[in-house]
Amino acid sequence: MSTARSTANIALIKYWGNRNNELRLPAADSLSMTLDTPHVQVLGEEADQFSIESFEADGSRKILTKQQIERLRKHRELTMQYLHTLDIDFRKNVALTIRSQIPSGIGLASSAAVFSAIAEVFAGLIAEEHPLTREQISVIARLGSGSAARSVFGGFVALRNRATSNEQTSNGEIAGAFAEQIAPESHWVLHDIVIVPSLKEKKIGSTEGHALAGTSPLFQDRLKEIPRRMQECTDAILTKDFEKLQRVAEEDALDMHEVMRTSTPSLQYLSEETWHIIREVEALRTRDHLEVLYTMDAGPTVHLFCTEDAREVVRSFANEQKGCTVFETKIGRGSELV
Ligand code: PMV
Repeated sequence: MSTARSTANIALIKYWGNRNNELRLPAADSLSMTLDTPHVQVLGEEADQFSIESFEADGSRKILTKQQIERLRKHRELTMQYLHTLDIDFRKNVALTIRSQIPSGIGLASSAAVFSAIAEVFAGLIAEEHPLTREQISVIARLGSGSAARSVFGGFVALRNRATSNEQTSNGEIAGAFAEQIAPESHWVLHDIVIVPSLKEKKIGSTEGHALAGTSPLFQDRLKEIPRRMQECTDAILTKDFEKLQRVAEEDALDMHEVMRTSTPSLQYLSEETWHIIREVEALRTRDHLEVLYTMDAGPTVHLFCTEDAREVVRSFANEQKGCTVFETKIGRGSELV
């Protein structure tokens, strides 16, 4: 039996588009901050057959869709395939129980938390005979959700897209992207004040969205910009230069949303409310010289990253937004066995 806990992460340099959709090998690097709450707990036990039970934050049973069950099955199959490349014969059937503390509709994608916790559970079940490295656990997490690879580490984390020399073989390819820590959570305590304008489920999930990225005429230009942005973002984090972090993170988030908007079909995740909040944050930042930046994933939710000093003002600002749900979290330590 093995139990793990994990959380979501929010990207400062976004992952959007794959070079291999099935293996969730990203087209470029990305960089995020792991959050400390809310968490997901996954328990895995050896069983006669593979099964999944899932529970909501309030303890009620969650009925998984066919698509969700298929994604979890596929993840287990790819994990077996990957472990086989490490000469590990993982034939165990596992009964998984997923307990999520992430309220649905708060704009925090739970897939990163779920798949990093499952990766941790699979690794936990074979730890005695075959201890895996954090990097290898991040590969397993990535096979379920690309961004989940980053939740395996705490603090600031990069997902490196490493096309290996044996890329032509399936063995080399499956491990061709994994996460690494840029700086631990103690390095720089940043907060994330989350403003959720709409509780409606997004229409097109990121799995389908990634597959459309290449249809945008802006996608190739985006890929060219990522190495510079990764460098600037890493430097800003290591030197704790908030202004530099703000410039590069906002540039990248808006660029990703332009790629989404110009893809076929067009993906418009940002709403009128999102743009209204962005404009207000920009005005507030100029007026009060606040260390706050905005970023948005595949939905209208606005994440306001800020320093400890700016937190009170940003929190009041968030609570003034009419009709919005506000949620507060900060930098966290990533997935672990409990
Ligand atoms: O891990 P996925 O497939 O849910 O993709 C995440 C995509 C974004 O949240 C939009 C960006 C990111 O880097 O997290």
